[in-house]
Amino acid sequence: MQTTLPWALVTGGSNGIGLEIARTLAAAGHPIALAARSADKLEALAHELQRDYGVETRVVAIDLGQRDAADLLVDTLAETDVHPRVLVNNAGFGVYGLHADTSLDDEQAMIDLNITTLTRLTKRLLPGMLLVRDGRILNVASTAAFQPGPYMAVYYATKAYVLSYSEALAEELKGTRVTVTALCPGPTASGFQDKAAMHDSALVKGKRLPSAKSVAVYGVRAMQRGQRVAIHGGMNWMLAQSIRFTPRRVVTWLVAKLSQPT
Ligand SMILES: NC(=O)c1ccc[n+]([C@@H]2O[C@H](COP(=O)([O-])OP(=O)(O)OC[C@H]3O[C@@H](n4cnc5c(N)ncnc54)[C@H](OP(=O)(O)O)[C@@H]3O)[C@@H](O)[C@H]2O)c1
Repeated sequence: MQTTLPWALVTGGSNGIGLEIARTLAAAGHPIALAARSADKLEALAHELQRDYGVETRVVAIDLGQRDAADLLVDTLAETDVHPRVLVNNAGFGVYGLHADTSLDDEQAMIDLNITTLTRLTKRLLPGMLLVRDGRILNVASTAAFQPGPYMAVYYATKAYVLSYSEALAEELKGTRVTVTALCPGPTASGFQDKAAMHDSALVKGKRLPSAKSVAVYGVRAMQRGQRVAIHGGMNWMLAQSIRFTPRRVVTWLVAKLSQPT
């Protein structure tokens, strides 16, 4: 007997990790709804997913940094009877530089996207998942979530929010068959570094970064298992653990050293 897999909504599906997560979920047989601003890229990916995996797709071109974006997105999908039971909150970006010098507008937009829309989308889709006792939520946090981040102070703080929120929610949802996974990649090859204007940061300069695909495949597996926190890469995992036994001031100093322009 063939079972129909639920719709998966992937935010930020037009590039990088989100695009690869959409491919991975489509390959597993999920119909896919894609949301980001770049309509042309989303349409091209939707076409590819239909052709390669035979899954249904929907595309919503939307700026998810707007306050009402989550409601608009969920309502638009509902109009065509799409009620996602898999939610991938992936869209996000970073701002690099000394906080005294960075643009407040950019940082506010980052908070609105990385925190507000992620929370509002979860809040809107969670009741439907609970009703049918079936749901998977994958929130893309970062290894940045584990410590303060000089030179990207607001970005690191947004990811600390995502990790804390996801873990708390996972505990509340215990026994409901709805799971929440916080995916924590380290620096990954994608459009992120361009957008954050951080190519001079020692964190990424001259480094060979893991592919977005390897992060996506790892994250989707962790989500399917219902794992709460998924740290991509052995070294990232070790660093995240060792931080817990190191004075925060020392860790913060170290991140500043690693992140400063070279
Ligand atoms: N790459 C890394 O080193 C790294 C490490 C840890 C965590 N992460 C996290 O991974 C997630 C994905 O980032 P990525 O590395 O794949 O970066 P990316 O290649 O720049 O992709 C970002 C995605 O987010 C979408 N997006 C950005 N602003 C948006 C907005 N206002 N409204 C709707 N969509 C928006 C972009 O689509 P449009 O431009 O078409 O809107 C794009 O699809 C982010 O949450 C990031 O914080 C990345």
